[in-house]
Amino acid sequence: MNPLLTTLQPYPFEKLHGLLAGIVPPVPVPIRLSIGEPRHPTPALLREALVEHLDGLATYPMSAGLGELRETLAAWFRRRYSLQHLDSETEVLPVNGTREALFAFAQTVVDASYPAPLVACPNPFYQIYEGAALLAGARPLFLNQTADNGFGFDLEATVDEWNRTQLLYVCSPGNPTGRVLTLEDWRELFGLADRYGFVIASDECYSEIYTDEAAPPLGALEAAHRLGRDDYRGLVVFVSLSKRSNAPGLRSGCVAGDAALLRQFLLYRTYHGCAMSLTVQHASIAAWSDEVHVRDNRARYRKTFAAVVPILSPVMQVQRPDAGFYLWAGVPPGRNESGSRGDDVAFARDLFAATHVTVLPGQFLAREAHGVNPGRGYVRMALVPETHECIEAAERIVEFFR
Ligand SMILES: Cc1ncc(COP(=O)(O)O)c(C=O)c1O
Repeated sequence: MNPLLTTLQPYPFEKLHGLLAGIVPPVPVPIRLSIGEPRHPTPALLREALVEHLDGLATYPMSAGLGELRETLAAWFRRRYSLQHLDSETEVLPVNGTREALFAFAQTVVDASYPAPLVACPNPFYQIYEGAALLAGARPLFLNQTADNGFGFDLEATVDEWNRTQLLYVCSPGNPTGRVLTLEDWRELFGLADRYGFVIASDECYSEIYTDEAAPPLGALEAAHRLGRDDYRGLVVFVSLSKRSNAPGLRSGCVAGDAALLRQFLLYRTYHGCAMSLTVQHASIAAWSDEVHVRDNRARYRKTFAAVVPILSPVMQVQRPDAGFYLWAGVPPGRNESGSRGDDVAFARDLFAATHVTVLPGQFLAREAHGVNPGRGYVRMALVPETHECIEAAERIVEFFR
């Protein structure tokens, strides 16, 4: 067997399952805020396009996808980020959701023949980054994101670590913090990438869930364009229909950026065998071509956040995120606890036992680095159920504190 498989960590939900096993809450109706799975309805136009193109099941698709899909994707990026150009032939590729693409990208980029290669990623983080690094023969280099630096990157790695870094995963808007990287953040990251020669993979799967219709989150391609890097060198961006169009089961996303990197990625993907079904490609064209359902989706989240944050803020440290659908909530210290935050694991367990509301302990989403686990003292709440259920969950949490 591949010995690297033994280096993989249990998934956060496995740990949560273990934590809550055997507990029978007194309240019968569960409310799950632990998993970031969208639960608003999948738009009819997407479902209809799927049904209309069932014939696609009879054909082997190409890894590069249909020209029509690539043109739709490139046009979406150009519109969304005011880009001067993005070439549909060389600078975009369809992927089966960002998860597989984020994983596969490290397998394409990392050269494990160099001594002790590193893949840098935020901490807390989406666990695929770590698994992708480990299975590519690298080690993760964790860049802490804490309240002290406004959940920005702590870029305090040593020169030796940066020299060994081959790939940096960025997540903006962040899961779980909701933090959106600024143009200044990007300037700094591009500077580091140029100096040390690493590639940037920018995971932007929450890019379309935001509060202010007039101020959509900055994307990495847009930042590159604004900073005069129109060749997108060393940069690949990952976007998805899962959250944007409430279609996590469709498995449809896209990568865009550096043409030379995407050429190698396409080669890797051809062997890996992850071409997107034609049926899914047609449904994706329909979804990326429509913004009405996306605005409607944002309005639902806006309503939920506006209702829930005021209910929770007297009892927990909650702040409306820049974007995304998570609350990264600080757990207040208990009577016998010192410090500014309480025990997130005990809180998640006791809250579940008392109220049947499930939240995810922050430390399950992070690793100990530079002497701290930056997830400790936080819980992640995905405000994905309908607004009334999220309100009910928030009220149960307030009652729990009483
Ligand atoms: C930060 C982040 N990236 C990527 C993904 C994967 O999304 P998908 O594969 O559905 O596009 C998720 C899913 O929850 C996520 O939270």
